[in-house]
Amino acid sequence: MTMKGLILAGGKGTRLYPLTYTRAKQLIPVANEPVLFRVIRAIRDAGIREIGVVVGDTADEIKAAAGDGSRWGVELTYIRQSAPLGLAHAVRESLTFLGDDRFVMFLGDNVLQGGIAPLIQAFASSEWNSQIVLKEVADARQFGVAELGDDGRIERLVEKPAEPRSNLALVGIYMFDHSIAEAVRSIVPSTRGELEITDAIQWLIDHGKSVHPYLHQGWWIDTGKPMDLLTANDCVLSEIEPAVLGCVDGESRIEGLVRIDRGAEIINSVVTGPAIIGERARILNSRIGPGTSIYHDVQVINSEVEHAIVLERSEILDVPACIRDSIIGRSALVTTRDEHAPMENGRSLSLELGDYSRVFLNRAAFQK
Ligand code: G1P
Repeated sequence: MTMKGLILAGGKGTRLYPLTYTRAKQLIPVANEPVLFRVIRAIRDAGIREIGVVVGDTADEIKAAAGDGSRWGVELTYIRQSAPLGLAHAVRESLTFLGDDRFVMFLGDNVLQGGIAPLIQAFASSEWNSQIVLKEVADARQFGVAELGDDGRIERLVEKPAEPRSNLALVGIYMFDHSIAEAVRSIVPSTRGELEITDAIQWLIDHGKSVHPYLHQGWWIDTGKPMDLLTANDCVLSEIEPAVLGCVDGESRIEGLVRIDRGAEIINSVVTGPAIIGERARILNSRIGPGTSIYHDVQVINSEVEHAIVLERSEILDVPACIRDSIIGRSALVTTRDEHAPMENGRSLSLELGDYSRVFLNRAAFQK
C-alpha cells in the first residue's frame, strides 16, 4: 500500500529568535545537518517516496534548500499554508495532496533517535485509523499529553495541560488514514486560536476510531528553544560516524567521536568528541570540546569552544575564555580588541548584537 509523508515546516520559530529572524527554524543545522533534512531522510528510509512539505512565510528559503527532493530520491510537493492556524489546519490544507492514502505526518523541528521504518510498517499493515508516538518526559506541560487506561488504550489527549495527568508526551510523529479528514474539518480552534492535531485525534477516539499508541524508547527532542538545539546536537553527535576527511597536522590531537569534513584544517589544536568540524573550517591553536558542531567555513583561532553550535562563516578569534553552551549564528565574529580608553578595572565588553540577541557572562568570573 502506498503511504505518503507530510512534513510540517511552516512554523516561524519565534522562541529561537534571533536565529530564526534570518533562517527558517527547520533549516538550523544540528550536527551540521538541517533538522528538516534529517526528517526527510527518516521518512525516505521508511520506504516513502511522495512527501508533502507544508510551508509558511519561509517557503522560499525552504524550497531553495530542499529542492524537489531528488537528492534523497523522494518527490517533494510544497503546500503553502494560508495562515499559521495550527497543525490540524495544516492537514486540512493538505487534503488534496493526501487523497485517500494513509500517511505519516512529521513535525519538521522534531529530532528523534533511530528510524521510523518499523513504526510505518506496523501502521501500514494494520487496520488502525491512526498511530501516535508517545514519550515519557519530565515535564509534560509544554506538549500534548496522553492519558492511557489500565488496558493501555488511549483515554484522553490534552494539549499543553497546566496540570498533566500523565508524563506521556505526544511526539511530533503521527500516522493517519483518511478518517483524519473529517476530524480536522470538525474541530474548533483551541484557546491559543489554533486547530490542534491533538484535538483532531481526540475526535477520532470520540468517534470510535482506533488510535494506537506507540511508546518511543530512544531520545526525542522538540527543538523549540535554543537549549533544545544544543541537547539535540549532543544526541545526534553521540551517534556520528567518526571520520577524518580533512587535514589534521602532527601537532593536533583528535579524541573520541569526531568527524572532520573535507577541506577542514586542524592545526596545533585538540578536538575532543563528540564533535563535528564542517567543510573548509579552520581550527588553529585552539581546543574544541565535546558537544560542538562547527559548520562550514568557520574559523576558530587561539580560542576554546565547547558544547556549542557555530554556524557557517563565523569567526572566533583570540577569545581568552572558553565559549560554551552557546549558539552562534552565521558570519558572526567573537574576538578581542584594544580599547581606546581602557576602564580602570580593565573589564568591559563591546557588543554589536542583533535584535533579541542574548549574552550570558559567567557571573563568578566577573565578580571582584
Ligand atoms: C506540537 C503539538 C504537541 C506536541 C509537540 C511535539 O506542539 O501541538 O501536541 O507534543 O508539537 O513537538 P508545538 O510545537 O506546536 O507547541
